[in-house]
Amino acid sequence: MTTNTAHATAALSPATAAPGPAPATGLDERIRRNPGAHRVLTGDRPTGPLHLGHYFGTLQNRVRLQRLGVEMFVVIADYQVITDRDLADRLAEHTENLVLDYLATGLDPERATIFTHSSVPALNQLMLPFLSLVSVAELSRNPTVKDEIAHSSQSAVNGLMFTYPVHQAADILFCRADVVPVGQDQLPHLEVARTVARRFNDRYPRPDGSGLFPRPEPLLSAAPLLLGTDGGKMSKSRGNAVSLSADEDTTARLIKGARTDAERRIGYDPVARPEVSSLVLLAALCQDRSPETVAEEIGDRGSAALKRTVTEAVNEHLRPIRTRRAELAADRGHVRQVLRAGAERANAVAEATLAEVRSVMGSV
Ligand code: TRP
Repeated sequence: MTTNTAHATAALSPATAAPGPAPATGLDERIRRNPGAHRVLTGDRPTGPLHLGHYFGTLQNRVRLQRLGVEMFVVIADYQVITDRDLADRLAEHTENLVLDYLATGLDPERATIFTHSSVPALNQLMLPFLSLVSVAELSRNPTVKDEIAHSSQSAVNGLMFTYPVHQAADILFCRADVVPVGQDQLPHLEVARTVARRFNDRYPRPDGSGLFPRPEPLLSAAPLLLGTDGGKMSKSRGNAVSLSADEDTTARLIKGARTDAERRIGYDPVARPEVSSLVLLAALCQDRSPETVAEEIGDRGSAALKRTVTEAVNEHLRPIRTRRAELAADRGHVRQVLRAGAERANAVAEATLAEVRSVMGSV
């Protein structure tokens, strides 16, 4: 969701929104009615540890979808990392840590296929025909790419940065996913995937006239956007986020240093008091209570009391997850085995799709 992009900036959604029902596209309802009819593709860039924003924004929702019985693919987007940096730094470590975060928060590798871009050649090959279906003008209009280019530390825009939404279309379409849980910032990319699917189907219909690809739909996150401890967007790369893997003391220190305001009375008003409200919301999410109740309880005991409450709530909520994570981390062989099994399954699916693609395209 919006929080899972290390560098997609400029929150397109309000700074802090109260939790609420998913937008009424009806997709969530359709999934609940018939989970077996859908396939979900989602993913993250392996750039650092996942944090509370990811947890409340995406990870919980993935586990919810998994429990409903929807088939799920999770791509660890290692080829996407090199869009905006010269070095894909500590890739193996970040990849294994992502897997640990996934497993600790409840993804079941028996039910979800977890794999990396670089281990699935046929997925990557789909990018070539897909690139031919999108104009340069369309690529250059993509607002999320523009935003990333504006914030990139690279002196020149590389070709992969420019074209990665098409690669992302291959991520989604290789397994013919029809549901993509995303945040606002990913909507332009999903539109590219939908365009590619439609144009491919039009240009290369199957012998019976049907199209090879579904038109994937976004499943917009209903989750609130939490702010980082500096009051800005919570981000893997800004040191302003509590990661799932952090220990309790680090968590306490980060929250203690969080920006608040001078008003003693604690309230929940995301527009007027974004920093305080984000902390209140965080405690509320951890304790499964309403932010108003949390704020009311702290009353005029001020920021220090608020931070104590938040620290305790976060550490308590994450304790079983962290314990499980530590157990899993002790067995790196298991993590690698999860990735191997995921790659095997993803390769089988990608090769089958590529075979059909080559067939409708008349490749020999
Ligand atoms: N671009 C996404 C992000 O930065 C990660 C991602 C890669 C992804 N491929 C995807 C998300 C396919 C959804 C679907 O967070």
